[in-house]
Amino acid sequence: MTLADTEQDAGQTMQTVSFRLNGEQKSLLVPSHRLLLDLLRDFLGMTGTKEGCGTGDCGACTVMLNGRPVNSCLVFAGELEAAAVNTIEGLQEDDDLNAVQRAFVKEGGVQCGYCTPGMIMMTAALLEENQNPTDDEILFALSGNLCRCTGYTGILKSVRAAADEIRGQDPK
Ligand code: FES
Ligand code: FES
Repeated sequence: MTLADTEQDAGQTMQTVSFRLNGEQKSLLVPSHRLLLDLLRDFLGMTGTKEGCGTGDCGACTVMLNGRPVNSCLVFAGELEAAAVNTIEGLQEDDDLNAVQRAFVKEGGVQCGYCTPGMIMMTAALLEENQNPTDDEILFALSGNLCRCTGYTGILKSVRAAADEIRGQDPK
């Protein structure tokens, strides 16, 4: 499958990359200078991942790359060979929201929702490593993710609730 926008990508180097996207093997011919964020949103129609700043400062575009959270606006499509990419679209479990997504809905971690996919991806990455984070650890983990709406209180509550549920405790 070739992914290119004729105007923007005319004359640019094309490269075939094979990688896993939410567990599905993909082999795509892409303009190697394009960003992972563009690949997801503009070429594959996966608009769950958001573009905020485009410069690595807001975290709205966070996805997992080889098991680590990254800003997809800072990753070139040409770097994806043999990589594993996971996006917000791949977080669902059994066709339902996962624990982190449920907690954000229930605890008021979402207002306009623009930062939410990035917040959720970063929270999922944190809770993979540490299922009982302190508030300081949560705030540190989310320090690269900006929210203009919530004042972060609902987000903090959401992460605590998700951690409780993952540890098998009733969310408070
Ligand atoms: Fe990537 Fe802001 S859009 S960090
Ligand atoms: Fe609007 Fe965070 S909910 S930017």
